[in-house]
Parts: sequence; C-alpha cells; structure tokens
Amino acid sequence: MIPITRPVLGEEEVAAAAEVIRSGWLTQGARVEEFETAVARYVGAGLAVAVSNCTTALHLALVAAGVGPGDEVICPSFSFIATANAILHAGARPVFVDIERRTYNIDPELVEAAITPRTKALMPVDQIGLAADIMIIRDIAKRHGLKVVEDAAPSLGSMVGSRRVGSMSDLTCFSFHPRKSITTGEGGVITTDDPDAAALMHRIRSHGASTSDLNRYRSKTVNFEEYRELGYSTTCTLSHLPVLLHPTAITRSAGCDHGRLGRPRHRNASWCDGHPSGALLQGTLPGREPSGH
Ligand SMILES: Cc1ncc(COP(=O)(O)O)c(C=O)c1O
Repeated sequence: MIPITRPVLGEEEVAAAAEVIRSGWLTQGARVEEFETAVARYVGAGLAVAVSNCTTALHLALVAAGVGPGDEVICPSFSFIATANAILHAGARPVFVDIERRTYNIDPELVEAAITPRTKALMPVDQIGLAADIMIIRDIAKRHGLKVVEDAAPSLGSMVGSRRVGSMSDLTCFSFHPRKSITTGEGGVITTDDPDAAALMHRIRSHGASTSDLNRYRSKTVNFEEYRELGYSTTCTLSHLPVLLHPTAITRSAGCDHGRLGRPRHRNASWCDGHPSGALLQGTLPGREPSGH
C-alpha cells in the first residue's frame, strides 16, 4: 500500500514539542500567537487566526463574513465534504457550481449565473493545491457586494502570479492536517486583512470571550472576560504539534519554492506527468504555481 503522503517530522519538531510541554502552556499560548504572525507574514496577509482545523476555520470565516440562516453560499460541486458542511453549520445553503475539467476548480464563467438575492458569499476551493481563479472571482464578488471566503485547505504556498494564496480573498482558510503542506497534527488558520473580522474570530474561537487567557495572564491587573457573542471551542491544543510550536518550520516545510515537503511532491507530480496512465491529471495554468499537495 502506498500512503498518499507522510508528514516530514524530525528532531527539531520533537525539541519544539518538548519545549512547549516544559512551558506548561498546553493550549493557546505564546507559540500560537507567534505561529499566527508567521503564517500572515508568509502568505502576505495582515492577520491570521489559528483554530483547531480547517473545517472550523471555514465555519468561523463564514460567520465573520456575516453568513447566517437564509443565506446562500456559492461553492464548487467537487470538493472535500468539509466545504459544504461548513456552509451548513453556518446555517446557510450551499449552491453548487460545476468545475473546470482541466483544473478541477470552480468554473468562474458559471458563477455569476448562480448568484441570487440570497447569495452572501463565494467560496472557491483551491483544489489539490492549485489556486482557483481568485482574481476573477474577486471581481465578481465586488460587483455583487459579496464576500470571498477561500477554502485553501491544501494550498499553503500556492502562488497566483507573484502573490501567495492567503493574501487575495476577504478570508482564506488553510488546513494543517498531516496530509497538507505543513502539519500541526490537526489545525487550521484563517488569514485576512480585516482587523474587525480577525478580532471577532479571535473571540468566537474561544467561547466568545472578550479577552484571551494569554492577555489575562500577561495583565498586571485583575482582568475579567465578558461573553457577549455566541462562541465555539475551536482553539489550538497541545495536539497541534510540531509546526505550531516552531514558527520557523513554516519556511522549512511549506510551499513549492523552498519546502522540504513541497520539493519531493513536485518531483513526484512531474514523474506522473511524464508517465501518463490514462487518468486525467489536474493541469495547471500560466502564472499559477500549486502548493505540491
Ligand atoms: C478542500 C478542503 N476543505 C476543507 C478540508 C478540511 O480540513 P480539516 O481536516 O483541517 O478540517 C479539507 C481536508 O482535506 C479539504 O481538502
């Protein structure tokens, strides 16, 4: 049996995990904050919010985009089940649009026809690490006053021209499941340039608390939190191991340009391209560099 992928973990990750265990901060400690900064900087976004996996990232991003009961969200008809599940968890209805045969990504030419007065957001998926037509989708969203919540679960490191996925949509969600570009065990992150959306997601990922445990710990005065919003428990825990605990690992592992995981994956993909099996493999497009997922 050939595994789909194996995480690349070494002594540095073991040491980083040990450091966190010794620190006693087993959930939502300073390492999470450092990791958020590292992800935001890597993709070229203003802010990042780390959560327990990409499915919760998608859910929180939809809530931050103002999606709720009665709304419709347009997504591709071909994706992992989590894409549609997140829309349903937000109380909205997924509206499926067909994909392009070559890229397996949502066909932007079919998106506009699916928009109704109930549409609140567009949710393209960067399938198997290849970015969807984000710039075209952004233009459509702008024309219709919609938000773009990008499901980039397998796409950390993907490029569109000179921009990384994570810097182009209103909200972009990544997964750090062991099959992805880098892993934290289970884990996810939302990147955004919108400080209000990031602040809301920081609160509702942790029960809606108005301030974090870390802030309360750092405060010199007694500082009680308030709960004014419906929150969830989607924070990061000790199980979000190595990379989360070691922010520099993001540049060691992610993406196609300098990744120790990305490079072998690209080599394998090139081998498949050179040995056609009759199966229709995902193609790429000019100016788009996949993550190597
Ligand atoms: C396109 C897509 N969206 C969402 C997810 C869910 O990610 P997670 O397992 O981190 O919740 C996946 C997982 O493979 C995925 O491929």
